[in-house]
Amino acid sequence: MSSNTMQINFVLNHEKVQAVIETHHTVLDVLRNTFSLYGARESCGQGLCGCCTVIVDGKSVSGCLYLAAALDGCTVQTVESLDAGGSLHPIQQAFIDCGAFQCGFCTSGFLLMSKQLLESNPDPSEAEIRNHLSGNLCRCAAYPEIIQAVRLAASRINTAQQEA
Ligand code: FES
Ligand code: FES
Repeated sequence: MSSNTMQINFVLNHEKVQAVIETHHTVLDVLRNTFSLYGARESCGQGLCGCCTVIVDGKSVSGCLYLAAALDGCTVQTVESLDAGGSLHPIQQAFIDCGAFQCGFCTSGFLLMSKQLLESNPDPSEAEIRNHLSGNLCRCAAYPEIIQAVRLAASRINTAQQEA
């Protein structure tokens, strides 16, 4: 291992993994090039659009800027974890049902941020949804449908919990 490489060990979508990385590699580099996870995407490359969002130890980070070296010992969640078990997460289904995307380039970031919101606030107001998703940009301007989808997902999750 050269002086600018290191091994990192972390939990990725519920599995313990390890990778040898270069110290300048970003999270996005490692997810895409080492683990073939392509859901998080690079758009602005400057931490401004949310297309590269991943969740690290429960907090959303910009995968285009966050250094992979900082993942050592962390728990990482990407959009690929949402349909674990073969069925869509209620947030994914709501995005489909509401037509909350056009090109879909921004969608993985919106899905992860929406899931994070509903885990901490199961019944958010429209203002709370807008505020939580304010760091995510959609060039196709599907914002009304995205808000609608988050509200639909919240309602379905809450109904399912009441019936359980
Ligand atoms: S690509 Fe990372 S924030 Fe835009
Ligand atoms: S659906 Fe195209 S950028 Fe959001």
